Formats: sequence, structure tokens, C-alpha cells
Amino acid sequence: MKYVGVLPEIYGEASFQTANYARFGVEFARGEGAYLYDRDGNAYLDLLCGLGVTSIGHCHARVVDAVRAQTGELMHASNLFWTRPAEDLARELVARSFATKAFFCNSGAEANEAAIKLARAHATAAGRPGRDIVVLEQAFHGRTFGALSATPQEDKQAPFKPLVHGFKTAPRDDAAALAGMIDEQTCAVLLEPVQGESGPYAISNDLLIAAREACDAVGALLIFDEVQCGMGRTGSLFAYEQTAVVPDVVTLAKALGGGLPIGAMLAAEHCADSLRPGYHGSTFGGNPVACAAAGAALEVITDPAVAENGRQIAELLRDLLKSLGRVSGRGLMIGLTPGDQIDAPTVVNELLFEHRVVINATGPHSLRLLPPLTLTEEQARFGAAAITSAVENA
Ligand SMILES: Cc1ncc(COP(=O)(O)O)c(C=O)c1O
Repeated sequence: MKYVGVLPEIYGEASFQTANYARFGVEFARGEGAYLYDRDGNAYLDLLCGLGVTSIGHCHARVVDAVRAQTGELMHASNLFWTRPAEDLARELVARSFATKAFFCNSGAEANEAAIKLARAHATAAGRPGRDIVVLEQAFHGRTFGALSATPQEDKQAPFKPLVHGFKTAPRDDAAALAGMIDEQTCAVLLEPVQGESGPYAISNDLLIAAREACDAVGALLIFDEVQCGMGRTGSLFAYEQTAVVPDVVTLAKALGGGLPIGAMLAAEHCADSLRPGYHGSTFGGNPVACAAAGAALEVITDPAVAENGRQIAELLRDLLKSLGRVSGRGLMIGLTPGDQIDAPTVVNELLFEHRVVINATGPHSLRLLPPLTLTEEQARFGAAAITSAVENA
């Protein structure tokens, strides 16, 4: 049976929530490891991880324990004061990266807002004229106004214009063209080293090197949005570790919290303190429970056995899928384009309703998998067989 057009609805128009999400007709009630369970108790193999969030599986015991312990101690104090989980998490993230300071917020878009503000504040502090931010075509940086202005996709921007001024779009595969756009007017280049929503698509080292050199020449910041490609997803804790460059700023969210909402901006010493007291803030930023969850998730993600499993499963899945079409992305950020004759939403629906396997479509003909680092070989083979069947049926 094919599901094309109108999807089976659970609440549909009777829902009390705004209509901005096109939801599938499934209600999930529970999650454990690589599986989601619907309200009737049916298990679904989750190869999407809630859009890249539950990278160590659903309700990982270490995260659940940390959250339970912290909710019994302190849930909120505000940034008028110090709290231990945020400081511990900042120390761990800094120790594992190029950065010297971390700023915490609640989402990927907010992490990018912080980075955009840092870049402009940094230019202001240095007395530089540059306020422009160069982004790449097909980028996705989030839905708030700054992040949306950095997301050059007409369908997402059009209803909300006017946007924030000062964003310029460069081609994502032309290093010379990008370098040519970076000048005295530029305060930052913001890019995803592996684009997520319009791919996945790995940006070439040539382009990253050109961006790094051009930023250095004018004193602009190089900002990597690792909201989706960070936190172990591509085979190293940070995606930049597998590229030829080191950025000045990295933004994180999604898998950072092990399932709880948290975002972070990590910044290098020479720019981190451009955000002076009072320049930026977030009531819930650095929330003790979210930070305790993130601390536990970080321990699991950086466990060498988990990281190695993730790398091996990535290789296996890529190998199992390659006969179906073009496989893109990096590590466990997997794009599959079976060809223009294959309708990706049809494949996704068939997988969900016939095979109980969760992936999504990033375009009319492109599929995306963001499986957990903890996926077993058996689960990977089951998922790949279901995808093969759904693609061949489509
Ligand atoms: C690369 C990237 N940046 C930013 C965002 C926005 O994150 P959030 O939805 O948490 O605001 C996303 C979300 O998909 C993303 O993939």
C-alpha cells in the first residue's frame, strides 16, 4: 500500500497546536534505545533520532539518571548566579575543543543568534567597519530572525520579510567565488561544514581553506554551525576535526542534550569575550537539568567504544545503501538520492507505515538518515533492507 497525498491523521485540524508542522499520523508515547513506540505499543526503528537529537538512543540510562538526580537538587537559578552543571559542561566542551569559553542557550537557532551577535560585537570592539556575514547557498541555520536571515532559502524566508540586513550568499562549491566575497565589510563567514537540511552535503576542504584564509586576511570570524553535524555524528566529536581548518566559533544543539533542549556556542580566546556583560543572555541558558543531561550525553558520545561503533555502523550503512543511488554526507549523517524517478516522501511514508522504520526526506528525491551512534549491526541491516524494499517499491 502506498501513502501518497493526504496522510492518516491523529488529531488533524482538531489539534490545539498551530498548523506549522506537517506531521505524520503517528503518536509516539515511549522511546528506548534505537526504538520509538507508538501509543498502541508498536516499535519503530528510529534512523532519524528526532532530527539528530537522540544520537545515543532514546532515554539513555546515564542521561536519565543524571536528569533524575539534578531535578531533585536544583532545576533553575538563573544567570544571576553560578551553577555547577553549566560550569562542568563548559569545562568539558572547552577541554575537548579549540575554544576557551562556552555560552549556553536552548536551541540551535539561539546558538547561531549568539554567534552572529558575537561576530558583530567582535568587529565593533576591533573598530572594524565590517558587519556583513557571508553564508552558503542552501544553508540552514534556524528559524529565528537572525538565523533565518542566514538561511538563504526563499520558501522559508519569503513570508517574513523584511529580514535582518547584512547577509550575503556565496556558492557552496566555488572556493574562489567565496573568497572574492570576503572583504573589509565582512565580520564573519557562517557555514555548516556538512550541510544538513539540504543534503546532507559535505563542504569541500578547498572551500573551507579559502574561507579560513580570507577571514584571517580581514580579521573576520569563521563560524561553524555544528548543530546537526557536531557531537559525534560525523565520526569525530566535532565535525571540524575532520576538516583542514579550525574555526573561531562553533555552534551546537540537537544531540548536545541527549534528548533535552540545550544549545551552545563555543568561542576561541581572541573573540570569546567580545560579548561583554549585558550584551546577550537567555533566562534558561545553562539550565542545570539540561546541562546535567548534556554532561552525561557527552560522556557517552566520547566513550571510545560508542564512537567506534558509530564509525563502523556508518560505514556499514553507507555500504548497504550505495547500490540504491548516490550516498552523501559524512559518517552517520547520511543522504541517499535514489534518482529523479523516486518520490522521496512516498518512500518515507512506506517505511513508516509498512516497515515501521523512521527516516525523512530533505527534498522531492532525497532521503536522509541520522541514525544513533549506538545502532547495532542487526538493526542497521534491518533498516537498510527496509529502505531497499521501500525504494524498489516506490
Ligand atoms: C545546521 C542547523 N543549524 C541550526 C538549526 C536550528 O536548530 P533549532 O531547531 O534547535 O533551532 C538546525 C536544525 O535543524 C540545523 O540543522
